[in-house]
Amino acid sequence: MTADESPAPDPAAAVSVRDLRKDYGSFTALHGVSFDIAKGETFSLLGPNGAGKSTTIEILEGYRDRTAGSAQVLGMDPHRGGVSWKARLGIVLQSSGEPGNVTVHEQLAHFAGFYPHPRDVDEVIAAVGLTDNAKTRIKNLSGGLRRRVDVALGFVGRPEMLFLDEPTTGFDPEARREFWELIRGLKREGTTILLTTHYLDEAAQLSDRVAVIANGRLVDIGAVHEIGGADARIPIVRWRDAIGQQHEERTEHPAATVAALLARDGEPLDLEVIRPSLEDIYLELVKDADADAEVAA
Ligand SMILES: Nc1ncnc2c1ncn2[C@@H]1O[C@H](COP(=O)(O)OP(=O)(O)OP(=O)(O)O)[C@@H](O)[C@H]1O
Ligand SMILES: [Mg+2]
Repeated sequence: MTADESPAPDPAAAVSVRDLRKDYGSFTALHGVSFDIAKGETFSLLGPNGAGKSTTIEILEGYRDRTAGSAQVLGMDPHRGGVSWKARLGIVLQSSGEPGNVTVHEQLAHFAGFYPHPRDVDEVIAAVGLTDNAKTRIKNLSGGLRRRVDVALGFVGRPEMLFLDEPTTGFDPEARREFWELIRGLKREGTTILLTTHYLDEAAQLSDRVAVIANGRLVDIGAVHEIGGADARIPIVRWRDAIGQQHEERTEHPAATVAALLARDGEPLDLEVIRPSLEDIYLELVKDADADAEVAA
């Protein structure tokens, strides 16, 4: 263990991770990841397939052992957390098991029974848009509706800390918007949320801070509007010239660039002024991380 050498976890944080490492046999999935999540914060873990997001989250949930490093969730080492600690967590795994032969309402009522202060089951069912399906057996629901059951099971116990591993995979656009409202409501109540998602607009909408991991290493961490640095946010002016050639220019003064273009060549074709989105910034960060990994190899 390297835990003794790393800075101590922050006891005030909801989640505190130091030099977290995970080996699966000879393969290292996490190479020493460190971050904190403050109480009440919504924090997104972003990264390509295989980056180590689920590995990290499942270690924090107490589902997987770590190889080295330290982790604390609500003041407890997840490896040692007992029933009363688990009752303070809500967990939505990336993939849920086979649904039993029970209805939506039965399943939620059953789960609610495990927690000391559960939410009202009908309200939870309504919040995930399943009121019309409350008496349907879960195995007969479509994939997206089943996923809503997973999300409902995650927060029916009124958790202090909610782990959501790709919760909205399979949701239609309307359900995703409703989910965002649900998360904002939980956040207003003070719930700490750790989310993974491949939908960067979702991460931008919901997160206070994001961390990007690639190849088991933390690439960057920060507020949604700061991650990647100020340079990554410089607007791009893009247009085509009279012979159809595409041009683009990064500039702090897009209006001046456009005015100069207009004065020089007349109205530019297919003119766009693009403010890099979280997705654009994320893609650059991940591309740089892949290039670094190749150099290191
Ligand atoms: N049980 C396991 N045994 C061996 N290797 C594993 C195991 N679980 C995960 N891995 C490997 O560890 C790496 C990280 O996997 P992980 O599931 O944490 O990625 P992820 O970031 O959640 O990806 P995704 O976006 O696809 O869900 C991958 O290379 C994966 O193949
Ligand atoms: Mg995953």
